[in-house]
Amino acid sequence: MDYFHYQNNELFCEEVPVAELAKEFGTPLWVYSKRTLLHHVRQIQTAFAAVEPVLCYSVKANSSLGILKVMQEAGTSFDVVSGGELFRVQKAGADTTKVVFAGVGKTDAEIRQALECKVLMFNVESEAELDAIAAVAGSMNVVAPVALRLNPDVDAKTHAKTTTGKKGNKFGMDIERAGMLAKKVLADKRLALKGIHMHLGSPILTIEPYAEAVEKATQVIRDYRAQGHDINWINLGGGFGINYRQQEAKPASAFAEVIVPAVQSVNCRLALEPGRFIVGNAGVLLSQVIYTKREGGKLFVIQDAAMNDLVRPAMYDAFHRIWPVAPSVTPPTDYEAEIPGCEPADVVGPICESGDYLAKGRWLPPVVRGDLLCTFSAGAYGTAMSSNYNSRPRGAEVMVDGSNYKLIRQREDYGDLVARELVSLG
Ligand code: LLP
Repeated sequence: MDYFHYQNNELFCEEVPVAELAKEFGTPLWVYSKRTLLHHVRQIQTAFAAVEPVLCYSVKANSSLGILKVMQEAGTSFDVVSGGELFRVQKAGADTTKVVFAGVGKTDAEIRQALECKVLMFNVESEAELDAIAAVAGSMNVVAPVALRLNPDVDAKTHAKTTTGKKGNKFGMDIERAGMLAKKVLADKRLALKGIHMHLGSPILTIEPYAEAVEKATQVIRDYRAQGHDINWINLGGGFGINYRQQEAKPASAFAEVIVPAVQSVNCRLALEPGRFIVGNAGVLLSQVIYTKREGGKLFVIQDAAMNDLVRPAMYDAFHRIWPVAPSVTPPTDYEAEIPGCEPADVVGPICESGDYLAKGRWLPPVVRGDLLCTFSAGAYGTAMSSNYNSRPRGAEVMVDGSNYKLIRQREDYGDLVARELVSLG
């Protein structure tokens, strides 16, 4: 559930009419609901309370400092995958001793940076990486805490580009190889094996992949303990799905039902790395219709948000609900069925690529130049994946809290586009 709602045919974020925000800050505009962010954090905390998990908000989903600050206030820790993300969470005031550092390609500089910050664990993805971590830790005279990332070969049934826990993906190691590395860690004073890590894919809409993965995880914990490891952490990554279309996602409690007893059975600490579940439905993208046109038997709604702002439809064929901010037709519950009073349209941006669309063949009420549209569930992997393609400055970001709101990121201007370029054409 989220705190975006229509009241008398006008879209509100919490108590603020979003049209006011578009008027003040322009479009494209990202609008976040603080209440929704906190609600989602609480849902996970409550569902998993029996094992007091360490919730490491996955910074890659949305790394805006304004979001990280809210997470920090809500008491989450962070999952980072680069030196840049580590820098960001420090800026947000995070306690880095609870941060987990993942990613298949950590550089020596990033490993050093993370050791200096005393991160909770490195999620280690290969033998070569383990060797690099040991070498850097040795040079600093410290012991590096590591979790081995297992590839459990579980099919999470997500898009081919976002599935990570299947054999043949670049992530993690198979259980046999990880077993060999665990022995290596035991013999190396520069390393301490704290736990195991898995991340199955994203977004996941069923419980089964977690049930399968956590069963494998508990078996591995038992095996490692039998080898003499004092190993106490299971990190199950992120991946909890959200409602992009209707009510297709499972509540956090459904995942907890299978994960909590398994974690308790081996008396481990649980870490989770949710990103999308927390921020996905806590953010929307507002845009303004520039033109409409009919061509080739189709209606095109050309608006000012594009694939450089939200690349998910182009990249993953992702579905985002889209509806006018002040609609003439009440929003439906099913956005994929025929809607009376509406007509199918391609909602496209100004970028010079046919792949630049937010939706195709989408039933929409009549819209005209100047109307505002809202693309829902855009909080995760929206701004974080945005670019300046076609030299388009990125939009502003606003955080709403009750009837108050705050600009958390300014709109970029043309100066920002060339700020790092060194060729002056006079
Ligand atoms: N932990 C690890 C190791 C991950 O690789 C990811 C996501 C997460 C946690 C957070 O997953 P979440 O809870 O947000 O599902 N750009 C794609 C999603 C890529 C996910 C990458 N890894 C999209 O827009 O759907």
